[in-house]
Amino acid sequence: MEIGILGGTGLEGKGLALRLGLAGFSVKIGSRIRSQALRKAQELQRELKIHGSTVHFYGQENCEIVKTSELIFLAVPFERATGLLRECRPFFREGQILVDVTVPLQFRDKRVELRKLAEASGSEHLVKSLPNNVALVAAFKTIPAHLLANLEAQLDCHVFVCGDLQQANYQVVQLISKIKGLSALDVGSLREARTLEHMCALAIQINKKYRVHSSRFRLLDF
Ligand SMILES: NC(=O)c1ccc[n+]([C@@H]2O[C@H](COP(=O)([O-])OP(=O)(O)OC[C@H]3O[C@@H](n4cnc5c(N)ncnc54)[C@H](OP(=O)(O)O)[C@@H]3O)[C@@H](O)[C@H]2O)c1
Repeated sequence: MEIGILGGTGLEGKGLALRLGLAGFSVKIGSRIRSQALRKAQELQRELKIHGSTVHFYGQENCEIVKTSELIFLAVPFERATGLLRECRPFFREGQILVDVTVPLQFRDKRVELRKLAEASGSEHLVKSLPNNVALVAAFKTIPAHLLANLEAQLDCHVFVCGDLQQANYQVVQLISKIKGLSALDVGSLREARTLEHMCALAIQINKKYRVHSSRFRLLDF
């Protein structure tokens, strides 16, 4: 499967690429600037090699990623995502899956909170910028990026996946299940994204209150 990451040069993109690479998947790293994408792809490939993996990483401009990938991660700051999706919209194709990892957070008065949007979640907002024949699946919203990006760290948690097309959710769950330490769970339709985004904000508040860094969620009985 062709996998690409929009905004793959950031911390979240790094974490996703490294974990997928370690699971044996080649990944295309996306950026607004091709040279930045190429540089990051080389850097991440070097890091993977140290961990014994020989998979290839490629660097491409974001819209090239959309043209050439079947499964695309959206890993740019939420407030930049609509603009990027609009720019790349002509290049989406029927049957593609966009995995939305963005969380519409803002920091105010030393508190983290969710931005007020017309829709109840960031994912429900962003899906409106996609063609109807592309499935948006929300995932990874509750996993700290720095933990994903540190290959020495044990993940040992659940990834909650939601979206309105069950087959797309299933494909994303199957993909995530290949990543060591992650258990993926389809939690339902895209409206569940609002809960996942609140869980992300809660985890950050818990980190601040107890001076820890990597709060995440694991369900019992699964
Ligand atoms: N940090 C976490 O723990 C965490 C956890 C869960 C989910 N997330 C979500 O993951 C997403 C990425 O987080 P991050 O910390 O990796 O963000 P980041 O480092 O601030 O940004 C990621 C990439 O977005 C690209 N970008 C910046 N401005 C852009 C614009 N105007 N248009 C298009 N691309 C732009 C940049 O790539 P180029 O300059 O190369 O184009 C940048 O490297 C966020 O939506 C966040 O909510 C983060």
